Amino acid sequence: MNEKMNRMEFLKSLGLKGASLFAVYCAASGLSSCVNESMDPTNPTGGTGNELLLDLNATAYTKLNTVGNYVIVSGIVIARVSTTAFAAVTQVCSHEGKRQVVFNSGEFYCPAHGARFDTAGKGLNSTGSKGLKTYATSLEGTTLKVTV
Ligand code: FES
Repeated sequence: MNEKMNRMEFLKSLGLKGASLFAVYCAASGLSSCVNESMDPTNPTGGTGNELLLDLNATAYTKLNTVGNYVIVSGIVIARVSTTAFAAVTQVCSHEGKRQVVFNSGEFYCPAHGARFDTAGKGLNSTGSKGLKTYATSLEGTTLKVTV
């Protein structure tokens, strides 16, 4: 194990993770050797390139602790659909490609022309008949993982 990894492991052992780990690690390493080894720098949630990790205790995501609320992260609409379930779909509507999909009254909805979709992405009216791309979600402790 090289010196860089030892430093990373040490910071991890302090309980740091995600963006804060990256920030501390970069500061400790010096800019020239600042390489993000733990996450995709384009992913603000700290997940890997094909997942989003949302800490439901973080201010940005606490809304998801309440049924009926949603957040939009990296073009994905993530909703709390019941006490035990979440749903995640693309923000881009299948009707005419407007990036306007939201969660409203228990279903996904695009205000551009009124397309409606259920929590599985299935169209509920003619405008929404092409459905929406969905993403798998899973909750581990207070971290919601969305596989993209
Ligand atoms: S683009 Fe969403 S309803 Fe038309």
